[in-house]
Amino acid sequence: MSPVPITPIRVGHIDDVQELRRSKPMKIPTRFVRDMDERPTLETVALPPPCAVPVVDLSKLMSGKKDMSNAEISQLGAACQEWGFFQVVNHSIDLGLLERMEEVAKDFFMLPLKEKQKYPMAPGTVQGYGQAFVFSEDQKLDWCNMFALGIEPKLIRDPKLWPKSPPEFSELVETYSMEVRKLCQSLLKYIAMSLGLRGDVFEEMFRVAVQAIRMNYYPPCPRPDLVLGLSPHSDGSALTVLQQGKGSSVGLQILKDNKWVPVHPFPNAFVINIGDTIEVLTNGKYKSVEHRAVTHMEKDRLSIVTFYAPSYDVELGPMAEFVDKSNPCRYRRYNHGEYSKHYVTNKLQGKKTLEFAKVQIENSI
Ligand code: OGA
Ligand code: NI
Repeated sequence: MSPVPITPIRVGHIDDVQELRRSKPMKIPTRFVRDMDERPTLETVALPPPCAVPVVDLSKLMSGKKDMSNAEISQLGAACQEWGFFQVVNHSIDLGLLERMEEVAKDFFMLPLKEKQKYPMAPGTVQGYGQAFVFSEDQKLDWCNMFALGIEPKLIRDPKLWPKSPPEFSELVETYSMEVRKLCQSLLKYIAMSLGLRGDVFEEMFRVAVQAIRMNYYPPCPRPDLVLGLSPHSDGSALTVLQQGKGSSVGLQILKDNKWVPVHPFPNAFVINIGDTIEVLTNGKYKSVEHRAVTHMEKDRLSIVTFYAPSYDVELGPMAEFVDKSNPCRYRRYNHGEYSKHYVTNKLQGKKTLEFAKVQIENSI
């Protein structure tokens, strides 16, 4: 989430989906209706549990017992390699804090539109309240309201966008983000170890990591088969930590073997996914997996998402450990700040953004 100054762009009228729902509960403006090939089929919308996204137990990783910890590190490695996604349990973040964060986020979205519009997300930017990643008048819109803030380093914060209401909002975001930051650092340590690297390699490389939070609120939609809550994309971060609201509908789906698989909320767990940074650093061994959100006819849904990424001045490229004759270098070296800018100034479109870093491999089939 770089604070990019962007020249004015024309995005046309963007309906606030909560207001739309209130005033015209059955209406779906054409800007939200997806082309046929993008529509979620009802079958995937209603897929039953269980979902096989792997579960990783952080308390086992941190147990200090070598056998237990090593076995869990292997599980983590397999999850990263085969899924790019996993749910983490026993993460030791106070569950009361997660609950309060969820409540306060929901309270924010329930405020009158006028109040939320005091913190507007300007077109082409990604902080504040509104719809991110909209760059043209003919682009399809997501059935979602977003509120996003830059957290670390402090210079990316825009104090005007930190809500005064609910009163405890800012303090909670601060406490929550500090805890999630520690979780990211811890997970990156074990992810490094699962790759056979030194535990502190990413932490050292990332310097003062950039952290941002985005809350996504998906109101119910009368035709979940026509719209998407969030367009398919991979995350531009190194690691993403997602909290799904308790009692929310199932909405997150990941593309696995060319099929959209739902991620069923696991009580008190976080959903973690590998972002583009780790894909590049590992030369594609651990991939950032495409995902999207779908909506529900009766239920709303809230997700609280933290993005953790290297400092903008860090140069990235595949690490030597992952490049050899049978694994030719797939990505060029680039500055992460530039990538971040590229990411936030383009619409979400599957894994297209990462083409920024891809190199043509000769003799590849
Ligand atoms: C995101 C994201 C999914 C969700 O914000 O990047 O993928 O379920 N969110 O809200
Ligand atoms: Ni995402």
